[in-house]
Formats: sequence, C-alpha cells, structure tokens
Amino acid sequence: LGASAVAVPAAGLLVAAVRDRVDTVGRVAFTNRLQAPPLAPSRLDSAGRRVFDLRIRAGQREFVSGRPSSTWGVDSDYLGPTLRARRGERVLVNVANGVDETTTLHWHGMHLPPEMDGGPYQPIEPGATWSPTWTIDQPAASLWYHPHPHGRTARHLYRGLAGMFLVDDNPVPGLPHRYGIDDVPLIVQDRRLDGGRLDPDEPMSGTTGFLGDHLLVNGILGPYLEVTTTRIRLRLLNGSNARVYDFAFADGRPFAQIASDGGLLSAPHGTRHVQLAPGERAEIVVALTPGERVVLRSASPATGAGLVQRDGGADRFDVLELRAAPTLTNSPELPDHLAALPPLPAHTAVRTRTFELAEHHINGRKMDPRRIDARVGKDTTEIWEVRSGDGTLHTFHVHDVQFQVLSVDDRKPPPELSGWKDTVLLPPGTRMRLIMRFADYADPHRPYMFHCHMLYHEDQGMMGQFLVLDPGQAAAPLPLPGGHP
Ligand code: C2O
Ligand code: CU
Repeated sequence: LGASAVAVPAAGLLVAAVRDRVDTVGRVAFTNRLQAPPLAPSRLDSAGRRVFDLRIRAGQREFVSGRPSSTWGVDSDYLGPTLRARRGERVLVNVANGVDETTTLHWHGMHLPPEMDGGPYQPIEPGATWSPTWTIDQPAASLWYHPHPHGRTARHLYRGLAGMFLVDDNPVPGLPHRYGIDDVPLIVQDRRLDGGRLDPDEPMSGTTGFLGDHLLVNGILGPYLEVTTTRIRLRLLNGSNARVYDFAFADGRPFAQIASDGGLLSAPHGTRHVQLAPGERAEIVVALTPGERVVLRSASPATGAGLVQRDGGADRFDVLELRAAPTLTNSPELPDHLAALPPLPAHTAVRTRTFELAEHHINGRKMDPRRIDARVGKDTTEIWEVRSGDGTLHTFHVHDVQFQVLSVDDRKPPPELSGWKDTVLLPPGTRMRLIMRFADYADPHRPYMFHCHMLYHEDQGMMGQFLVLDPGQAAAPLPLPGGHP
C-alpha cells in the first residue's frame, strides 16, 4: 500500500505497541554469504508426473557460529529447498514426516483440489508420508509452502518449516531468470536469538503475535549477496509469523516491482518501497553499477505498520547487503509489458460476503471444524469484503484462489495491488473488496481455509472454512482428523 492509501493510525495504537516492545537490532554487520535455497531434485515417473521427495526433519543450525539451535527443516536443518514446476505439469510430492509431532505441508497460493491443499485436514503423522498430486494450472508465480497443523502453525513455521514453490510459464523476454545468479528468492523472517540461540518453544503470543529481534534471510543472519549482473530479480517472501516489512534500499534508489503473490503484474511498477505482510510475496528488479554496495532495509514509515509493531517510531531493520562485482554482465532492459491480467469484473460476482476480523474472531466466530462458514458454487465468482474491526493489523488469506483487489476504501487499488493476490494486509479501518473465482474443484467433504496470516491469530482461531460445491451438491464435511473436536 502506498502511504496515501492508508490512514495513519490513532495514538491509541501506541498502547498496543508498548506491549509488543522488542529490542530491535537496527544495523547489522553483513558477514555471511547468502545463497538461493537449493533447488529440490525431481524426476519424471512413468505417468509423466514430476516427482519430488521431501522429508521434514529435526536438526541443529548455528545462526551464530558456535551457538547451535534446535530447529526443523525440509531436507535441511532449517527451511527447505525450492520446488519448481511448469504450468501444465502434473506434480507428485512425497512428504515424509521425520519429526515427532503431527504436522502438514500447505502449498500457499496454489490452485488445487482441497485434499491436496495441505491444510489442517491433511495431517502427516510422525513416520508417515503424504503424497499429494495435482496439475499446475496457474500463471508463473512465486508461491511457497509451510506447515498448517490445527493450532500449531506458528510454532512449526517458527522452527524452520518453509520453502519456495516457483511456478514457471512461458518465459517473458527481458526478465532475469537464472536461478541463484540473477533470480534469487529471499525468505525474510524475524527470530529471537537469545545468546545467539533460537528457542524452538518460544511463546508465540502478543498483540500481533510473535515479533523477533533479529532478521534471517534464507536462514542466514547478517547476509550479503554477491551480484554479477547489472540487474537482479529478488523474489521476496515475508515468511515471518507476524511482522510487516516495508522494503526499501538505504540510498532510496528506485526499482521495479514485477510481480505480486500470484504472478506478474501487467507492467513493471516503478517504486522505491514495497510493503509485505506475513505470507505475501513481491518480485522486484533492481539495477546495480559495478563494485557498488547497497543495503536493502525494512523501515516501516507512514503506513502505520511500524507504529503498531514497535514503540518509538519506525521499525527499522537492515535486511541484506547487495555487493556488485567489479565487472558485471549486462542484463537486458525490462520489458514494458509483463502479463495479460484479465480483469474479474464486479458484475460477474454472484454474491458479496463480508468478513470482519477482530479479537481472534472472524465475524464474531472462532474456527470450528464442525462449522462451514461459506458454501460457494464451483465456477462462480464472489466478492469478499474484508476489514479489520479491532483497531489492529490483520491480514486476509484465502486458500485455492488468487483474487483481485477491486477496491481499497472504495478507491481503485494502487499498482502493487493490481495483480493476482492471495494475501492482503488489513490496516485498521481499511475496507477491501476482493473478487475471486472458485474454479475447477468441488468437494462436499473437504473444506478450504481462509484466515489471518498472522500466525498467532490463526492458531487462536481467526480462521474459517469454505466448501466449493457443484450445483445441487449437499455439503457433508468430514471431521477434522487428529482427535480435534
Ligand atoms: Cu500460508 Cu492457510 O496459509
Ligand atoms: Cu490477525
């Protein structure tokens, strides 16, 4: 959101800020080399499916050398590899649970049948393997995966379970695309490191939820990234539990935002900052000159996010340093046009629903697996009007779909909200109208989720469930597995 689109919060919000006060480390020494997460190996099976084998496991990670922390990861001590598949491909992911708690793996932003979604209805018991398969059918995008066990999402993500899932489509000439060289995912997470160690049982509570005192990028503390090209594409993911970032370069240089959660924008959006709430992604392209160093920061300015998060003004973090090599390979100019974004016109919606998020409830109700909050028709379009009703920050995320923002307080959305989205920040008082189409998959037994992506809120019950139904189909949800009421 541009500062213009959001009201500056009232002074009363500072009370919330004091409760959530943390000792933020503003400036850091950039001593650790950052790399893109490894690409997950895959193979084609006899049915032509692209098969990935993932294993969730416990490990030890030294964020600070000599100070091991107990962490979880996917084929790693912390975080997991980047999955990558092409639009039209059928994928099969074998997810083995090697930790001693039941968890799940959810494909955030993916359009897929509900039984493949990896939400609370697809638990993976310790020692078990879950093998979802689906056909990738959506535009190129930077999606991600993370656990989603009922009431335990904040903790499992905090311990380190997350990774990127990149969807490829026809290449767009001019966009940097060499993974790990000029196209690098950045998974940004705040963590508390006491004496250099992460506590896997850190309390997750707080007004907005857990706020850490250190930043990790791809699991690295104090990172720098070596750049060898005149332009670099950064795929930013806010993989934090609760913190909102407003990314900008320390020297204020402009850059281009090229994509939002669900894919490319129609054209590059020239800007100097990009705000991301938990769960949101943005792809940016920034130009560098030979030999220079520039710091990517998060400084939440007039948007209100910083005020709510931290007492005493803006919430500032150094994120990482880009270090350009003495000679750089020339990158092509960015194209003027990126993607066709067919609008979902408001008049095609069959109904409007409203959702007010307040005090760990949505519309006054907490998540109840026995209750279906919305029944939507397969291949219909709806408008969901969402707002924060308690004077604090929330977010809104919907499974299965990518939506478009029709309006923000009755105004046209700013350019950064003009593309496909699956998660939005809801500043206090702001009302957003989202339009979405529930295509392809109907299932009377298995719901999808919608929820606040501030994970403590989600775990506290700020979540609801919807079924997608064929015309005339009767809803008959299965009980939530795992002994939950
Ligand atoms: Cu990113 Cu319901 O999740
Ligand atoms: Cu919330």
